[in-house]
Amino acid sequence: MAEILERSESTIHFHQYSWLTGAKILITSDPANVRHVMSTNFANYPKGSKWREHMDVLGETLFSADMEEWEHERKLARCFLSHHKFHDAMTEIVWDRIQTGLVPVLRHISEQALVVDLQDLFQKHILDIAWIMSIGYNPNSLSTESRKDMISQAFEDFCEAAFTRFSMPHNLWKLHRWLGIGKEKKLKHARETIDHVFADCISKRDEDGFNCQAFYHRTFGSATTRKGMRDNVVSLIFATQDTTSSVLTWFFYSVAKHPYVEAKIRDEISESSPQELNKLVYLHAALCETLRLYPPGPLLSRTAVEADTLPSGHRIERGTTVVIAVHAMGRMRSVWGDDFHEFKPERWITEHGEIKRVPHYQFTAFSAGPRICLGKELAFTMMKATAATMIYNYDIQILKEHPAEPKNSVVFHMKHGLMARINNRWT
Ligand code: HEM
Repeated sequence: MAEILERSESTIHFHQYSWLTGAKILITSDPANVRHVMSTNFANYPKGSKWREHMDVLGETLFSADMEEWEHERKLARCFLSHHKFHDAMTEIVWDRIQTGLVPVLRHISEQALVVDLQDLFQKHILDIAWIMSIGYNPNSLSTESRKDMISQAFEDFCEAAFTRFSMPHNLWKLHRWLGIGKEKKLKHARETIDHVFADCISKRDEDGFNCQAFYHRTFGSATTRKGMRDNVVSLIFATQDTTSSVLTWFFYSVAKHPYVEAKIRDEISESSPQELNKLVYLHAALCETLRLYPPGPLLSRTAVEADTLPSGHRIERGTTVVIAVHAMGRMRSVWGDDFHEFKPERWITEHGEIKRVPHYQFTAFSAGPRICLGKELAFTMMKATAATMIYNYDIQILKEHPAEPKNSVVFHMKHGLMARINNRWT
């Protein structure tokens, strides 16, 4: 798609109504268009009813809301996600989960010389943090006897089914749903699993006693119905787990291919410590580079309420689906220069050794404008703390013969996982 967009001056406009998408469609990777759609003329470009239908497992929440409803939900979510107390407490939780959850598992894998799927490991690790954040209950997904990785599988199945819905004629996926076949069959099962695990975790949490660090619950718990709480918690866990674990997986894949990056990250940590996350500028840059090349959300979509003219000069009619090609944007010469295809953390560092501020309309992994991701800071804390601990203490050897390719999914998961051996550097 990046190549096609590069040849088409960054925008492709299908003027005819498409039987595939059920709408006229415009795909763009032009930063000026992104700015226009996501910010300047924000009110004209809601997510729309089709988005809500495709992602219906999430229920009715901030993620699917538009207009006044979205404004209200966003204010509430920003209250707790941007609060410094939330961030301090989450930082503590992240380090606790690393020391008492992840490190013992890594030790076991290293001692037993096991092969592990890093994608699965990160999904479980981040899932535990996400549950603690949202309802104050730790399902201990990382422990070997746990069955909670069911939910990671359920989210993956949901992402695949949603991808199929976005790329299939509207009536066809609905027919599949009615017949209970294909990805829709898997989705039905995934939905049941998500609902079941949610109910299970809530009752276990109630048995264990309420943990006051569950900010989300303190903010919304008593104010919403059980369905409202289910929708909010499921959406929050989805937003946290699938995105962050996907970036960590592609990060370790990229670092394994660039040993000099790994060496520089280790040098940086040796000069401070894995705990001093603010000082780990090179690691931060390497994660930004991973997000540029492998953004967890490869596409963003919006629907034009009224006809409009984009900065690129394209005239669109009302009802047109505008697709922001996030993944392609990260791989375009016109946006990143001649070395766009290289994994090069240095591009993110200024001459003063700080992280370069790249406009969100160019680096769209966290979206842009009023709907920009609210969890960016937390995501970096989780990714940096996890990556620093692992890189500093372990040699991670990715199995070269194992295929590394993306899944057809709304989240950029690896189709076959990322298999690796892990050796303790200090024994
Ligand atoms: C590397 C990790 C992450 C990436 C790349 C990421 C990316 C994104 C993107 C692209 C969107 C916009 C989606 C759309 O408009 O369709 C978004 C929205 C959002 N994200 Fe994240 N996210 C990450 C982690 C997180 C975490 C950890 C949280 C929660 C603590 C979070 C909370 C949210 C929320 C609440 C929204 C909805 C904003 C709105 O619609 O107003 N995200 N994120």
